[in-house]
Order: sequence, then C-alpha cells, then structure tokens
Amino acid sequence: MKFSIAAFGIAISVLACGAHAADTSANDLLLLAVASTNQTMGPSAWEWPNQEPAKAEIASNTSASTIDIATVQSEVSSSKRSSISRQTYNLGNIVAKRTDYTVLTDGSDPLYSNAALQATSYLTYKVISNTTTYAVAKAACLAYCDSVKKCVTANMYNEIGNPLLDHVFSEKSNRKCALYGDVPSLSQMTNKGGQQLYGNNSPANYIENSAVFFTSTVSGPATPAGYSATFGPLTTAVSLDAPGYLKKTFLTQNDPATCASLCTSYTSNTCVFFDVFTAMMGDTVATYVCVLYSAKKTASDATMASISSMSVAASRGYTRN
Ligand SMILES: *[C@@H]1O[C@H](CO)[C@@H](O)[C@H](O)[C@H]1NC(C)=O
Ligand SMILES: *[C@@H]1O[C@H](CO)[C@@H](O)[C@H](O)[C@H]1NC(C)=O
Ligand SMILES: *[C@@H]1O[C@H](CO)[C@@H](O)[C@H](O)[C@H]1NC(C)=O
Repeated sequence: MKFSIAAFGIAISVLACGAHAADTSANDLLLLAVASTNQTMGPSAWEWPNQEPAKAEIASNTSASTIDIATVQSEVSSSKRSSISRQTYNLGNIVAKRTDYTVLTDGSDPLYSNAALQATSYLTYKVISNTTTYAVAKAACLAYCDSVKKCVTANMYNEIGNPLLDHVFSEKSNRKCALYGDVPSLSQMTNKGGQQLYGNNSPANYIENSAVFFTSTVSGPATPAGYSATFGPLTTAVSLDAPGYLKKTFLTQNDPATCASLCTSYTSNTCVFFDVFTAMMGDTVATYVCVLYSAKKTASDATMASISSMSVAASRGYTRN
C-alpha cells in the first residue's frame, strides 16, 4: 500500500512501524482499510437497464492500490453538501414519496457535465427519452428514483457512442438515469467514457449533460429482527478499541440487516451488539462499516467521531435480544 504522506499521519506511522497487528490498534487498522478501499461504481457501458436494484452485501473489492487522500479531501462540493445533515440519509426502507430534490450539479457545469457519477451504493439505472425537454427528462428520472426503494440520488446524463443505446435497447435513446442509495460528492464525477465500444479504432464513448439530484427526505431503516435499536443515527461510533470488539466488515450499503446477519452468524453466539456506520473521507463516502462486539454498548459508548481523516456518519447501534 502507498499513501499520500501529507494528509495521513496515523497511517504513515503505522506502516513505518512495520504494522505488527499486536501493537496496532483496531481503530488504526480501520483507518488504513477505509483509506485503501474504493467502492465507487456506476452503470457500466455494457450493463442492461432496469435491473433489480443492487442489494447490500459484503464489500469484496477493498483495493490496496495507490490512493491520494489529499485529492479526496480537497473536493469542491463541501459548501453544497454541508448544509444537509448526514444522519438523515443512506437509509433503507424508504416508503414516503421523495419530492424534494437538491441539485448537486445541473448538467451545464463544464467542470462536471462530461463525466458520470461513480459512487458508493449504486443501485440500478434506466434509459429515458432524449427527445423530451430537460425539465421533462429530469421529472422522469426523479420519478424513477422515487419508485426505487433506497434511492436518494439520481445521475442523469447522455452517453454518446454506445452501440447498446444507439441500436439495441428499445428506448433508442442515449440518456441514462442512474440511481444511488447515498449522497455523492462532485469529486466522484469520474466516468468520462473513453471506451471504444464500437470496436478497435472506433471513436471512444463520452458523457454529456451529466446532472446529479439528491433528496434527504427519507425514513430510517427497519430494526433487524432479533435486535433492538440502541442508538442512532449519530455522527459518533463505538471505538473499535473498546472492550468486546470482535470484527469489522465493509458493506456496499449502510444496511443494518446485513450487519445483523453477520452478528447472528458469528462464532458461538458471542456477538451481542453491533454498530453500523458510514465512513467518510472528507466529504466523500468511502464505505459502510459493520462492527461486531461481544459486549453490549449504549449511546454513551459511541464517542468516536473520527480517526484522523476518517469521520463517522449515520451510526446506529443494535443490541441482540
Ligand atoms: C476508484 O475507482 C474509480 C472507478 O474505477 C476510479 O475512477 C477512481 O479514480 C478511483 N478512486 C480512487 C480514489 O482511487
Ligand atoms: C465491488 O464489489 C461489489 C460488491 O461485491 C460488486 O458488486 C462490484 O462489481 C465490485 N466492483 C468492482 C469494480 O470490482
Ligand atoms: C437520442 O439517442 C439516440 C440513440 O443513441 C440517438 O441515435 C439520437 O441521435 C439521439 N437524439 C438526440 C436528439 O440526441
């Protein structure tokens, strides 16, 4: 692993010591893992539309490649994002109609309009008409988000140079509407196309008019069967160095039910409590962390707001009944 030195004091000192597990705290190891994971996704050029929304699962692609924390932290959207409360989203079980969407970028900003979003909690996408006005297309895309459980963000864009859109899909439209279960940052507008989908020597595909809308009017996730909600959502978590720490696992969504199943199936019924939270790097969601404990905890144990450059959001504790 290679880390950006400037912004990453703890990780560097851990690595410099040779990272003996015995003298490295569980919190430090969490920070290292969060900093080196990359779970950003979006619809691939070859993905079929109207698929079942992705379900929460254990994140498998924790990459150990070079990262640049400084880039993550200097992202530009903080002013737009900071006005909303992190605790209120990335939740499941959304039943209410979500009508209030905030424009993160409207598709005309040259800094972002030429790239589609790649972010955590990607759900699914569909093709919408490219012969309507922007306003009608936006309404169709947001109505699609309203109709999909867990959706809080929609990315609407045109993808030019994709044979599936041009010739195969029945919509005959190059306008995609991709849905996510969490609020992204503008630094995650990273997919510029660049694939020669019509074959070698063909022009590469590219993105136009990329716009992102998100809502924070969502309700919280259901309490998993067999558990009681103990605290949350909070911007603090139980320290992994607290007594009774068993294990941490990264999830692809902030999903208490998946964390509960890991607790229930943990060796010899030793897991009696879990804390599931969103790990942020700067203003960008890095991953979702499920932490199991063999000792019961209360809200007063949830005192950890950050570990160096990683901060905690949407933290919920559940006690096994
Ligand atoms: C994460 O992966 C995406 C998609 O492969 C890539 O565009 C992005 O640059 C990566 N981010 C980091 C911080 O490595
Ligand atoms: C990352 O992991 C998720 C969940 O296992 C999977 O759906 C996705 O395809 C993976 N992405 C990459 C780029 O490997
Ligand atoms: C709409 O998308 C189709 C399929 O990619 C394309 O052939 C057509 O030129 C597009 N029309 C407009 C108005 O952009």
